[in-house]
Amino acid sequence: MSGEIKAKTPHGEMTVDQLAEIQPGMATIMKEVGERYGACYHAAKGGNWKLASYHLNMVRVAFKTAKVTRPKFLDDLNAFDSEYLLPVFKAIQAQDWKAFEEAFHKGMEGSDVYHDKRGYPYVRFVLPSKAPENLYLGPPEKFKREAAEPAA
Ligand code: HEM
Repeated sequence: MSGEIKAKTPHGEMTVDQLAEIQPGMATIMKEVGERYGACYHAAKGGNWKLASYHLNMVRVAFKTAKVTRPKFLDDLNAFDSEYLLPVFKAIQAQDWKAFEEAFHKGMEGSDVYHDKRGYPYVRFVLPSKAPENLYLGPPEKFKREAAEPAA
């Protein structure tokens, strides 16, 4: 029985059921989704298309976790992926800024639809105006380590 199988840590033992219970739920996962989706926009805008693709893939990875820990959202997350994320991936692949912007904004509207459907009409993702500062957003081949250091 999963309730009887114990995992040992330096701090004590816990059951597999306890381990399962503390896996991230939607609130935690959606924080990551919001951050990654916003970061994807800024990377594409900066011309770092590979980074944009990486961030968008991390949205997918977060969805994958959600489908396991909160299976009731599985169908919605799959539907959102094919209707909204796929066109963003395609625009990234084509490095087509206009198509990207359009698909990206549709994705934000799509998130409104699902937040409404799930009883969160007050959850409205908005694109952060400021890009994350910890990763270089220009084309990777133009990156220069010296130029990226802050002035002393
Ligand atoms: C790119 C698309 C999406 C973005 C950017 C997004 C973003 C967010 C953000 C920022 C939150 C608030 C998290 C917090 O700070 O506590 C949230 C909550 C939530 N989102 Fe999304 N979301 C997206 C798509 C979806 C989809 C497709 C579903 C469908 C199942 C969904 C279901 C939820 C639920 C249920 C919550 C409430 C979580 C809770 O507090 O338990 N979201 N979302």
